[in-house]
Amino acid sequence: MAETIKTPADSAVETRYLVMPGNANAFGTAFGGAIIGWIDMVAAMAAQKHCGRQVVTAGIDSVAFEAPVCIGDQVVLLAAVNYVSHTSMEVGVKVIKEDPATGQRVTATRAFVTLVAIDENHHPIPVPKLTPQTDEEKRRASNAALRVQARKQLRQQTTR
Ligand SMILES: CC(C)(COP(=O)(O)OP(=O)(O)OC[C@H]1O[C@@H](n2cnc3c(N)ncnc32)[C@H](O)[C@@H]1OP(=O)(O)O)[C@@H](O)C(=O)NCCC(=O)NCCS
Repeated sequence: MAETIKTPADSAVETRYLVMPGNANAFGTAFGGAIIGWIDMVAAMAAQKHCGRQVVTAGIDSVAFEAPVCIGDQVVLLAAVNYVSHTSMEVGVKVIKEDPATGQRVTATRAFVTLVAIDENHHPIPVPKLTPQTDEEKRRASNAALRVQARKQLRQQTTR
């Protein structure tokens, strides 16, 4: 039987939060940690959608806070699987802040999250292949392949 093709679009997740005072610092802007929590959550949902398994976060990197997010802003989180290795998946996440009054949108944060599929015994388990279709999906996959390779090399070269 032919294998089902899974594309990044198939795993895409979009969710939304309203930034509340409990998420913010004394200057009224969202804590980096609150934003990373949202990123982790949406990335896990995209990875689960791709592999149909439980997943754990192995790492979050390249977090770039490009614009502040303020109390009262709505944030839109977009996530999709960029690249699949053997048991791990790299998910790209973009956080967009939206002014509820004007609808104006600005990209606030970007990050890459590595998640690993696990079985019932919490052991890593292989995930389905990813088949990028569009030029944009192919560009993201080839960039992600470089990052995955670089992360592996760094872990090997900096043993604890
Ligand atoms: C992530 C985890 C499952 C990896 O398990 P492990 O026994 O080290 O397994 P492996 O060495 O076989 O690595 C499994 C995969 O994870 C990847 N990986 C491991 N550590 C990683 C890291 N720090 N960053 C990115 N990828 C990592 C490996 O490259 C491998 O990918 P591949 O199979 O696609 O090539 C394990 O370290 C773990 O459970 N960590 C805690 C997770 C957690 O509690 N997260 C927070 C809450 S969800």
